[in-house]
Amino acid sequence: MAARQKVLVARRIFPDIVARLVEHFDVEEPLDDTPLPQAELIRRLQGKVGLFATGTELIDATLLAACPELRAVCLMTVGYNNVDLAACSAQGVRVTNAPDVLTETTADFGFGLMLAAARRITEAEHYLRAGRWGQWSIDLLAGADVHGATLGILGMGRIGQAIAKRGALGFGMQVIYHNRSRLDPELEKPLGAQWVSEDELLRRADHLVLVVPYSPQAHHLIGAPELALMKPSATLTNIARGGVVDDAALAEALAAGRLAAAGLDVFEGEPALNPALLALSNVVLTPHIASASLPTRRAMCNLAVDNLIALLGGAEPVTGLN
Ligand code: DGY
Repeated sequence: MAARQKVLVARRIFPDIVARLVEHFDVEEPLDDTPLPQAELIRRLQGKVGLFATGTELIDATLLAACPELRAVCLMTVGYNNVDLAACSAQGVRVTNAPDVLTETTADFGFGLMLAAARRITEAEHYLRAGRWGQWSIDLLAGADVHGATLGILGMGRIGQAIAKRGALGFGMQVIYHNRSRLDPELEKPLGAQWVSEDELLRRADHLVLVVPYSPQAHHLIGAPELALMKPSATLTNIARGGVVDDAALAEALAAGRLAAAGLDVFEGEPALNPALLALSNVVLTPHIASASLPTRRAMCNLAVDNLIALLGGAEPVTGLN
């Protein structure tokens, strides 16, 4: 009998998903949530033809050179900013990600984070839990309206469009967006969505949501100069990637009242946080969980498994990147 192909799972995933992999491959899994140090990842990849990746693993030219047998890197995330696609292609390593299956769940969360920031929901809960609720007052924890406001979206891909749909159809918001390319008018029309320049987006949005993929060009896309263009009454929500926002500049703007509030699910250098953010009450902070509903996390894993099975079986993947 031919030897089974060997696959590494980069860190702990659901046991039944591992069981699916075991039906096809000889599987090694660390059974742990701690990311493997790079040297350990390389060591464990020796002799492996496939990697089930969770998005944070750095797949660069050095790793690829040290793992010549690797043929498939299948991510369970939609973001692939830690993968050097050109280097993978040069070495004949196929890469897949997991789009679509997380769109609606991530949009739900992004919209929720925006609502929480605008209506000061977590701030209000902390206030109450701290025993500070003594009496009613006219402006107690009063925030900004979301319904009827102008929703600005930076990055109008699948998730951006799903957020726009919630805003336009559910909350009567006026949708403006900026994206490298304009949407097909057929997609814009039902949402009443209007393409605007990045400056106009920043100036006009009451609630700005960032959904733009990370790339070196997107580093600090929102820094002090961009924040200065926003209305002081506006909110900013980041469900894209840490590094798209200059967190220090954002903390300064929030502390100085140059921006009303923010909702952040992603951070520069996460899981470390800029301590200035922790000191602020007008920011809602969550630990990169926008796609974390159980059905969606399972769907993301299953798509990565489908891709591994296809690629290592000599077929085309469902969602290939190269
Ligand atoms: C993704 O899929 O890129 C998300 O950020 C991970 O949850």
